[in-house]
Amino acid sequence: MQGIGIEHYGEQPRLIDIPLPDPATGEIEVELFAASRNPLDEAVAAGHLAGHGEFRFPLILGFDGAGVIRRTAGASAGFSAGDRVFGQFWAAAMQFGTFAEATVVQARPAFGALRRIPNGVSFEDAAAAPTAGMTAVGALDSSRAASGDTVLILGASGGVGAFAVQEAKARGIRVLAGVSPEAADALRALGADDVLPRDADLPEALAALGAAELAAVLDFTGATDAVDVAAESVRGGGTVVSTAYGVSDALRAQNRIVAVEYVLDEKPARLERLADALSAGAVRPVVSREIGLEDALHRPAPPRDGLRGKTVIRLR
Ligand SMILES: NC(=O)c1ccc[n+]([C@@H]2O[C@H](COP(=O)([O-])OP(=O)(O)OC[C@H]3O[C@@H](n4cnc5c(N)ncnc54)[C@H](OP(=O)(O)O)[C@@H]3O)[C@@H](O)[C@H]2O)c1
Repeated sequence: MQGIGIEHYGEQPRLIDIPLPDPATGEIEVELFAASRNPLDEAVAAGHLAGHGEFRFPLILGFDGAGVIRRTAGASAGFSAGDRVFGQFWAAAMQFGTFAEATVVQARPAFGALRRIPNGVSFEDAAAAPTAGMTAVGALDSSRAASGDTVLILGASGGVGAFAVQEAKARGIRVLAGVSPEAADALRALGADDVLPRDADLPEALAALGAAELAAVLDFTGATDAVDVAAESVRGGGTVVSTAYGVSDALRAQNRIVAVEYVLDEKPARLERLADALSAGAVRPVVSREIGLEDALHRPAPPRDGLRGKTVIRLR
């Protein structure tokens, strides 16, 4: 079986050929139709998650995917051969990721989550959704922002950001998005109420929009300086939530607002909620590119006049 993987940490990922094992009890074998890239994949390849669970080599990369179950073995969490499934295929131990023709994974993945693909949702959209969509839902939950509140989203054009804009709008939240000028129109079309250029004077821009007080800032960039500035416009008791280590020491040390680094949690419940939102059309993945397996090796540049969104790898 061919996949994109590494023999050791730090190596440039490459096309490798390894046999897929038979599923053990509690595992399923899935023929993959599509996968999607996340920054997490590069972090794993670099060895940054070496202390978080066991990774076996040669390691096929990729967590997000969608496909059809070929075989089940023993208790299979209600799944059967022929089911269309999607999710974060994060097994313990992790060896057979989604950048491949097929995978074997626990029916209830130890660190991930799987579900049936809702009717009417394509393999490509299903593969684009799991990590970014679940993280957007979790970060918003963590922000405690509610209907009628205003939130500022930094990195709104990326994979997580594009989901967060839609999820926030679905919750009745006013969304301000910090992005590059090239992405402004596409973000408005996605639902952002207002778009702030990355280099704008934030207090001035917020005052001009009549949004001097934010309930929350969601950061998907890790740009601590920009997060620090944005945090000053959050009302007392409000929140800053970063998924990208964007909370500076100074921000962590103050107690006027709540500042947290969010790590994706409660994956099965969040995937269920995401599946419902996809099924209802409340959110849709923004797929900026579809590429082949060989092209999955490199992070593509953002599109010139649209959103970075998600890059999907077609496997069939
Ligand atoms: N904690 C968790 O559990 C968890 C889960 C998922 C993701 N994450 C992290 O969350 C972050 C977002 O993930 P993603 O999948 O959305 O990544 P992504 O698709 O690469 O999007 C990142 C976004 O941030 C923007 N950006 C990056 N650096 C910036 C900077 N210095 N200043 C301004 N904007 C900047 C990018 O703009 P361009 O498009 O113009 O480059 C893009 O809009 C990543 O750091 C990822 O590792 C964490």
